[in-house]
Amino acid sequence: MKIFDGKQCVTALKANLKQKIEELPENKRKPKLAALLVGDLAASQLYVKNKVKTCEEIGMISEVIRAEENISHNDLLEIIYRLNSDETVDGYIVQLPLPKQIDESKILLAIDPKKDVDGFHPHNLGLMLLGLETFVPATPKGIMSILKSEKIKTAGAHCVVIGRSNIVGTPMALLLSRKGIDCTVTLVHSQTKNIKEFCASADILIAAIGKANFVTADMVKDGAVVIDVGINRIDDPSTPKGYRVVGDVDFEHVKEKASFITPVPGGVGMLTVISLIENTWMSFCRTENIANG
Ligand code: GUN
Repeated sequence: MKIFDGKQCVTALKANLKQKIEELPENKRKPKLAALLVGDLAASQLYVKNKVKTCEEIGMISEVIRAEENISHNDLLEIIYRLNSDETVDGYIVQLPLPKQIDESKILLAIDPKKDVDGFHPHNLGLMLLGLETFVPATPKGIMSILKSEKIKTAGAHCVVIGRSNIVGTPMALLLSRKGIDCTVTLVHSQTKNIKEFCASADILIAAIGKANFVTADMVKDGAVVIDVGINRIDDPSTPKGYRVVGDVDFEHVKEKASFITPVPGGVGMLTVISLIENTWMSFCRTENIANG
């Protein structure tokens, strides 16, 4: 059984991108990722901080635009329009969740699809559905990178995806069934009957349901590949913070059956920032007519 090393994988992906940026001609501008942060939610601040740090490490420019928690919908739209027309910005994200007074879907629709490096805009989701080049959302993109870098055999494999969210489960199922990847995919969700039986038949099991330790050892086939997308806080008075972060998979027991498993923390979550930055690089290459983006 192999436990995935997210840090090692990310280090290699970062080095690859850093080199590409270093090789840009001296007179060429550098790619730039912007993040729009509304309010001061601790988790959102941390995500954005990680994005800025990774940009610095690989030589990409980053900018954080901060807005007050009580910003009006129209004022937020003004910032979006400014980012859309700023030619120095190759891609940007609006950090979610947004405060209650903001209509999230309207904001996401206002993002220029050419700069939508989160891949959340219907235009980009449509391109993905058609198998055309686009920005793939960070988590599914990261999982595809893991399958590739670990040389996991996907052709003909039965892959069960647990969870049908717009940004993980649904795109994941689509990507895995593509020509060239060639999995047979089952998407199970909260209304599925016999979830356990479906999971136990999976060669590749992807858990993105948001329930701590949902996948138990009896739901896993011997030798299965298990990818854990969950990030759940559970109470643990023995830790200094009083809680710890666990995935959707009961790691300690499932690892005894799996041939390959991603841990939480240190697994899939490690890949999301670099995936976003890879999308930004792709956007830069399109704008600057650089091949191999
Ligand atoms: N909040 C948590 N994850 C994400 C993400 O991937 N993109 C954005 N924009 N906000 C998030």
